[in-house]
Amino acid sequence: MPLEITTTPTTTPRSDAEVAEILTAPGFGTYFTDHMYVVEWTPERGWHDARVEAYGPLSLDPATAVLHYAQEIFEGMKAYRHEDGSVWTFRAEENARRMATSSGRLALPVLPEEDFLAAVDALVAADERWVPPYGGSSGEASLYLRPFMFASEAFLGVRPSQHVTFMVIASPAGAYFKGGIKPLSLWLTEEYTRAGRGGMGAAKTGGNYASSLVAQQEASAHGCDQVVFLDGAEGKYVEELGGMNLYFLYADGRIVTPALGTILEGITRSAIIELAGKMGHPVEERPFGIDEWREGVASGEITEVFACGTAAVVTPVGTLHWDGGSVEGATEPGELTMAIREQLVGIQFGRVDDTFGWMR
Ligand code: COI
Repeated sequence: MPLEITTTPTTTPRSDAEVAEILTAPGFGTYFTDHMYVVEWTPERGWHDARVEAYGPLSLDPATAVLHYAQEIFEGMKAYRHEDGSVWTFRAEENARRMATSSGRLALPVLPEEDFLAAVDALVAADERWVPPYGGSSGEASLYLRPFMFASEAFLGVRPSQHVTFMVIASPAGAYFKGGIKPLSLWLTEEYTRAGRGGMGAAKTGGNYASSLVAQQEASAHGCDQVVFLDGAEGKYVEELGGMNLYFLYADGRIVTPALGTILEGITRSAIIELAGKMGHPVEERPFGIDEWREGVASGEITEVFACGTAAVVTPVGTLHWDGGSVEGATEPGELTMAIREQLVGIQFGRVDDTFGWMR
């Protein structure tokens, strides 16, 4: 039986004028909507007390387990407004499925897919006026949705939490990168890795992002936008950026993306595999060597590189730097990168036929 959701509207909503002002330049992750979804879990009661209520701070006991042992997972997804005013999410079932996989890795309970979807729908319905207008500000603004689950028991013993909270919050989003669609400069870290065999690399858990921060600082100190991680075992294969998957496009039409295993199974990543295939560019998923990248760009065999993710959409990659060298990449977004981007964004905003059945 699906959970029953109680909705208590906020008594202090932002005014329409304030919302409209925020939606003209939302940035990323700065403003939050009027409501949030909350549901709790205990072994005795299972998931219970599902509710949509006023957005606001949580009161947590200082011993709350997540603050100590990082038993936490999250998702990232977006709601898009179409030209006719209707509001759609993109591959939401995939987020539900991935969250269930992450739950398994972090010893958290699974929230059934129907309840995950109902939670997202309930919050989007409550805060619909926060979904940016079609074609507004940057032309690609959307409502970023952040489902997350954490160990909410006040207990310092190291074992799976016996009280868990799942929430969804929403934040209007413009472009993730301030510079707009221009090639990112990347820093290859040879000191830090983000995942190892049997580790948490494939789970969407805060710890993976926490561990990326020092490497991201290293990237920034070298004047780069983002950090690239190599595999933890041999330091030979390209994994992903701090929060994005990578794609390599060859002059002969081939496309390669690093194989799954220790990387995040990006929902944009897998959408691009299907899209590119349909566009006549079958994607190879395989271990991709850092030397293949360096040599491929230097020889001109690799003509375009891009990063992708829910927040970053499809963002071109330019020069790759490392300690002692660099290989000069594109200075302008590549043609095929932009064609893939246009197809993806077109489906999301209802301008391109959704033949995959991705929109909900
Ligand atoms: C996303 O693209 O949704 C991400 O999770 C990346 C980042 C904002 C954490």
